[in-house]
Amino acid sequence: MTQQIATNIHWHDGTVTRADRNKLLGQKGATLWFTGLSGSGKSTIAVALEGALYEAGKLAYRLDGDNIRFGINKNLGFSAEDRKENIRRIGEIAKLYVDAGIITLSSFISPYREDRDNVRKLHEEAGMDFIEVFVDCKLDEAEKRDPKGLYKKARAGEIKNFTGIDDPYEAPENPEIHLSTNEMSLEDEVAVIIKYLEDNGYLQGA
Ligand code: ADX
Repeated sequence: MTQQIATNIHWHDGTVTRADRNKLLGQKGATLWFTGLSGSGKSTIAVALEGALYEAGKLAYRLDGDNIRFGINKNLGFSAEDRKENIRRIGEIAKLYVDAGIITLSSFISPYREDRDNVRKLHEEAGMDFIEVFVDCKLDEAEKRDPKGLYKKARAGEIKNFTGIDDPYEAPENPEIHLSTNEMSLEDEVAVIIKYLEDNGYLQGA
């Protein structure tokens, strides 16, 4: 865990609570954490889900690997250490959104089980729900899709430490939601997640 450096700091509570915000929005904020290979469909599913939730009058917000690396995480690369810090920061940002009452859709390869489990722990310690969504796509299929042409570059040795090629991906052992993307349509994937959210009370106010 990251060391606390600042001292003499004090948490300051407001008068409006997380439960109040959930009630206001008519939903329960939680983090849906999409993990999977590059090109597995994490961002595509998150975009479709965000749209479906919006149509249903529910507020979701996407945190996306590539996008976040243009801003707050622009100083991080793809070493194991940098990926760890990438995921830690996103985990903390996701918590802020959940505290705001928002259904937060985080799409990051997040290849290391330990890093994802740390984010789960951070959520649990704060009384927040972390829903791991394994976007399960076979490497050869992701490589065939290669939407950004990155697998081709990695195979040619032009990108180092590329997940699935010369860097590991540790699949979740017990994800709350497992999407076998080689066998499912995008509509089915969104429907499975919406059903999970409905069945577990996330689409009703507190
Ligand atoms: S993570 O491993 O730290 O979770 P993240 O999801 O933020 O990764 O970023 C992954 C995206 O960065 C990929 O979708 C791809 O577009 C790009 N990328 C660039 N270099 C690499 C690399 N070496 N490994 C994986 N993805 C890379």
